[in-house]
Amino acid sequence: MSKKLLEINDLTYSYPDGTRALDGVSLMIDEGERVGIIGPNGAGKSTLLLHLNGILGQNGCVRISGMEINRSNLKDVRRKVGMIFQNPDDQLFCPTVFDDVAFGPRNLRIPEDEVARRVRQSLEAVGLMGFEERSAFHLSFGQKKRVAIATVLSMEPELLAIDELSSNLDPGTRRSMIQLLKELGGTQIIVSHDLDLVSQLCQRVIILNNGQKIAEGETREILRNQELLKANDLL
Ligand SMILES: Nc1ncnc2c1ncn2[C@@H]1O[C@H](COP(=O)(O)OP(=O)(O)OP(=O)(O)O)[C@@H](O)[C@H]1O
Ligand SMILES: [Mg+2]
Repeated sequence: MSKKLLEINDLTYSYPDGTRALDGVSLMIDEGERVGIIGPNGAGKSTLLLHLNGILGQNGCVRISGMEINRSNLKDVRRKVGMIFQNPDDQLFCPTVFDDVAFGPRNLRIPEDEVARRVRQSLEAVGLMGFEERSAFHLSFGQKKRVAIATVLSMEPELLAIDELSSNLDPGTRRSMIQLLKELGGTQIIVSHDLDLVSQLCQRVIILNNGQKIAEGETREILRNQELLKANDLL
């Protein structure tokens, strides 16, 4: 039997202003699976991802590799879950690309020569060798998204969660991102409005709307259901 990497059980979340963003969401993801999460603007996709490493709510509803996320194990959880935010500016804050990608491993007090090896490997994976001394502030959106992915790869996470992968990427960069994620393997959660990208990458897809899981199934089946897609503003 395959191992469960992520288990979410009846997750409900309201923001401090009272907006209910998630309403009883349950889902499971096996190790090695690549799962797409689709849904209209405001569906709760980003809110869901922010629960995967305890940025929002640590209310016992989320387990990573069997470990319940709570206040006492956030450090371990963040080592396991690599989160790529919708907006890369939320993720990049160091003076150089090298420092951004090195930030996580240095925080774990990994020796500097191993840090340098991981930075090199991660930048190579996203096709940004030679960008080490550049400042992320002055890169294009697609380049920033790549650096954001590298900052997470350098942590060698068990689960990669990517919010809004293809918005603002040129077709070539989009294609190379798809290729990169295929090559990376591992367990991945991909939030996107790009149904073609989701169909290329994900065996399984989940539709969220109004904070609820509306449908879940094989990508081919779900994307063939035009009524379902239209009803959820995906078509
Ligand atoms: N910080 C916040 N405070 C209050 N409400 C919020 C906050 N962030 C998001 N929301 C609300 O929570 C709901 C879910 O938002 P979320 O950002 O998770 O949607 P999404 O599916 O990621 O949408 P998009 O496709 O536009 O990125 C929306 O109604 C949104 O207005
Ligand atoms: Mg979002």
